[in-house]
Amino acid sequence: MTNRVKKICPISHEKILKQIGQIADREKISVYAVGGYVRDQILKKETKEIDFVVGENGPLFAKKVKQQLHGHGLVVYEQFGTASLIVDDVKLEFVTAREERYEKESRKPIIEKSDILSDLERRDFTINTLALGINKDNFGKILDPFGGLKDMKAKTIRTPLDPDRTFSDDPLRILRAARFASQLSFRVNPQIIRSMENQRERLKIVSQERITDELFRILSHPRPSVGFQILKQTHVLDIVFPELIDLVGIEQRDTYHHKDVFEHTMKVVDNLARISDNPRLRFVGLIHDIGKPRVKQFVEGTGWTFHGHELVGERLSKKICNRLKLPKEYRKYSQKLIHLHMRPIQLIGEEVTDSAIRRLIVQAGEKIDDLMKLCRADITSGNPKWVKRYLNNFEYLINRMKEVEEKDRIRAFQSPVRGEEIMEVCGIGPGPLVGKLKSMIEEAILEGQVKNEHDAAYRYLMTIKDDVLSHCNEKADTDSKMGSHAQQGNSHGV
Ligand code: CTP
Repeated sequence: MTNRVKKICPISHEKILKQIGQIADREKISVYAVGGYVRDQILKKETKEIDFVVGENGPLFAKKVKQQLHGHGLVVYEQFGTASLIVDDVKLEFVTAREERYEKESRKPIIEKSDILSDLERRDFTINTLALGINKDNFGKILDPFGGLKDMKAKTIRTPLDPDRTFSDDPLRILRAARFASQLSFRVNPQIIRSMENQRERLKIVSQERITDELFRILSHPRPSVGFQILKQTHVLDIVFPELIDLVGIEQRDTYHHKDVFEHTMKVVDNLARISDNPRLRFVGLIHDIGKPRVKQFVEGTGWTFHGHELVGERLSKKICNRLKLPKEYRKYSQKLIHLHMRPIQLIGEEVTDSAIRRLIVQAGEKIDDLMKLCRADITSGNPKWVKRYLNNFEYLINRMKEVEEKDRIRAFQSPVRGEEIMEVCGIGPGPLVGKLKSMIEEAILEGQVKNEHDAAYRYLMTIKDDVLSHCNEKADTDSKMGSHAQQGNSHGV
């Protein structure tokens, strides 16, 4: 354990830190800012949250800070010795310096009061074991007992203790290691990688909500592939996301090979991270080809095919969203995008008709922009000529979509003649017939036979209504006759 001390300046939130330090001095307590705040100071990143380790009772100290600095939103967890509050828009969290011991089957620690060094030692990674003094005698000085500064410089993720112990104590840290690698573009030390693999079964004691949260954190960073590749390498993915492992591998037959769908997926997710902050869209990028392994077929003379993978993927995505305990809207969103993700590609290269474009816009509804982003990110070919041609065609399609949309105002589309009016004009009550007439109007608009406006749709309704109504009356007559025959037949039999 090296107890190196360095000074950092300038420090963000210096005024608050000084004020809290003065309170600590008056109370004769040593207080340190720790964890993510100090790490991000060194990386010159913004933070809106500061964690403190307090030499005495953390919640009691938090109450003093609240009184003296006019804080608000105080929340106290007496049994964990922690309290949080907000001062000048900054979230402050105070923890009593503590040691944690873990029971084998639980992530819940047994907490015992201790000093700053033991507190730092029980933390996850050396980059998170730096403590910044805020008392008068050590203000701005960094306490670095585990070589965190050196690891920051080397961009390395390492644990302060034997990694098997750090991961076994709290297995969520296995995912946090991959997450910090993605978040900071750091490398995970090889010994830590081996331990992640050794301890991976321990993840089974972690709740699904926590696992899902970390997976989405990996997705939220600029290069999610970094984290997912580490999870693959350590076989952690086999436990937390087995469907992604099914995408791994290239098969060669004759001169044909299909590309490794996992590697392709990684490129798609990184591409999406460049163009969208939307977590749902990045998640769909991760699972858009999830149906491929199930439908993969080798066709003599053609090569590998994946017909219908979007439909199988749509079904699988429902199961995955449920398992990951994602909100319902994630499930619906994923299903829709996966179902449609091949459609724009199929339109490219054909003579694209207005009606095909209209159908796509209507089916995707307000998700059309995200669908197009997904399809653009899906272009990962290594052949620059092919990519260029493809992107040009893609631009052409997007322009055509704009034209059709401007012309037809087709997004969030439904018949401009509404159900009420159809009932009134046709003299019918609510029922399936109203829906049928409405769909016929919509169909004619999508086919481009009728303009997407009220008067044109109304005129069209007038031309079809008599035929449809008389056909339905005839059908109703036949049905009722058949019903009475059937009844007669039954009565004979009884
Ligand atoms: N910590 C830990 N083990 C965990 C979670 C957290 O040791 N499973 C420690 C780390 O020292 C971490 C601190 O608690 O720095 C605060 O945790 P958290 O707020 O989750 O992470 P930050 O490091 O602050 O980073 P970020 O806010 O970017 O998640």
